[in-house]
Amino acid sequence: MRRALCAAALAACLTTTASTQESGFAQRPDGGAPSVGALSDMMISILHRHAILGMAGASEKWLLAEYEARQLRVRFMEAAQVYRNIPIETVSAATRALDDLTEAITAKNKAQFTPRFLELTRTCNACHASAGIGFVVIETPRTIPFTNQSFAPAPK
Ligand code: HEC
Repeated sequence: MRRALCAAALAACLTTTASTQESGFAQRPDGGAPSVGALSDMMISILHRHAILGMAGASEKWLLAEYEARQLRVRFMEAAQVYRNIPIETVSAATRALDDLTEAITAKNKAQFTPRFLELTRTCNACHASAGIGFVVIETPRTIPFTNQSFAPAPK
């Protein structure tokens, strides 16, 4: 499955191919040797932000949740701009899920937040599956990921 798509919102034109990384799922635009692990480093940052976002929503720390959702969006945009051959629909599915989640955050609605966070997580795993790395499975965080950041409810 190959097709060329222009992502006007990203000001980038991405050629898409749903396959493994060996077949060029995500390549640097300069055509040079990829700086080792750069996209995976972005993903580790995305992983941390996803965890903080999940815990922030669960703890109803809405300002933190809003901040982390914004950070996640920036990371996704960076990944889509820096790397070619990421199918645009996988990126837009993630940013659409972030839009819906942000609505729940703005409404400070935990009942809405939980399923929408799950949907965001589903888009992580859908992209990993199309990239041939379905073994990187993301789920809702069960614990506070860092012991040096407080998730205690903000004083009212
Ligand atoms: C648009 C596609 C796409 C989306 C959406 C996506 N990822 Fe990834 N992710 C990748 C690709 C491609 C890799 C492999 C990068 C590499 O090995 O260079 C990856 C790798 C990873 C890794 C492994 C990094 C490592 O070095 O161990 C983690 C963790 C990860 N992603 C987390 C997430 C989380 C969390 C989300 C959702 C919030 C997410 N990803 C959404 C494409 C995506």
